[in-house]
Amino acid sequence: MKAIQISKNGGPEVLEIKDIKLSKPKEDEVTIEHKAIGLNYIDTYHRSGLYPLKLPSGIGAEGAGIIKEIGSNVKEFKVGDKVSYAGMPLGAYSTHRNYPTKNIVKVPDGIDLEVAATLMTKGLTTFYLLHKTYPVKSGQTILFHAAAGGVGQIFGQWAKSLGCKVIGTVGSDEKISKAKSYGYDEVINYNKENFSKKVLEITAEKGVPVVYDGVGKNTFEGSLNCLEIRGMMVSFGNASGPLSDVNVPKLLQPKGLYLVRPSMQHYLGTKKQIEEGAKLLFEKIETGKIKIEIFKKYSLDNVVEAHKDLESRKILGPAIIVPN
Ligand SMILES: NC(=O)c1ccc[n+]([C@@H]2O[C@H](COP(=O)([O-])OP(=O)(O)OC[C@H]3O[C@@H](n4cnc5c(N)ncnc54)[C@H](OP(=O)(O)O)[C@@H]3O)[C@@H](O)[C@H]2O)c1
Repeated sequence: MKAIQISKNGGPEVLEIKDIKLSKPKEDEVTIEHKAIGLNYIDTYHRSGLYPLKLPSGIGAEGAGIIKEIGSNVKEFKVGDKVSYAGMPLGAYSTHRNYPTKNIVKVPDGIDLEVAATLMTKGLTTFYLLHKTYPVKSGQTILFHAAAGGVGQIFGQWAKSLGCKVIGTVGSDEKISKAKSYGYDEVINYNKENFSKKVLEITAEKGVPVVYDGVGKNTFEGSLNCLEIRGMMVSFGNASGPLSDVNVPKLLQPKGLYLVRPSMQHYLGTKKQIEEGAKLLFEKIETGKIKIEIFKKYSLDNVVEAHKDLESRKILGPAIIVPN
């Protein structure tokens, strides 16, 4: 098998392709031949060291493929099943891998494996953000940052299907029409306009009940300014850099705000939770409420370029790595 590994943290150049002999799956594992691998911003945090790993390490947290072999305890999957997964252990950037069945779901016949590889991280994150962290109600106006990105493409459509008015932000004018096509009602270029001012204008100075902020450092305070009294700040990522310590009396107290910093493992830590989210997500895809437009496909040989594109904000929508 071929796999991407890192032996030190750093820029995209630390991603190295290796030939590796794959062992037999352990008793609760299956061997998956990847047909597609999800490219996620979190992969750059693992690579750079923002989220520390024990090195050397594989990389990549999301994949879809066909089961080639099963461990001795595995009952719910068989050779030939179409499956997808997200989560630890890392190592999705590979042609084949062994993976524990705990995080794996079967992919319905109507869903292509390339599409499935975009869903388990970005789609299940959207599921827990909109249904669990702050369960939105029809008619609410909500704000999501980086609306033309990978999570952004699914989030806009999902929030719209729940009856929300969705405001999105983007970093360039060319991303505005993309975000609109993903369901966002209002799109603000936050590199040109003061997004807080604009959100208050759109909401007649009331503010929004919730902001979903995956951009982090550059948007944090502006996001708090967009919230109504007792609003909720959902800080779920740090594409522009990690947050510094939060000054509670200055930033949260004046409006009695809530602040949450969720991760997938807080909401998708059990098989039951993953299956609940995946069922809803697959239904949204099968009924056409969410359409996936894959922005770009990379090969394992050009993952360095993929990471450069991610970090220079060139990726509009979900991207995947096709290993063969
Ligand atoms: N907590 C969780 O469970 C969880 C799960 C999945 C993803 N996430 C987070 O969700 C966010 C989106 O993930 P994704 O994989 O879909 O990535 P993505 O949105 O496709 O890419 C990140 C986007 O962030 C924006 N951005 C703003 N400032 C940036 C900067 N200084 N450098 C680079 N990008 C910047 C860019 O969009 P513009 O050019 O439009 O600004 C960029 O395209 C990430 O923060 C990720 O960590 C969190």
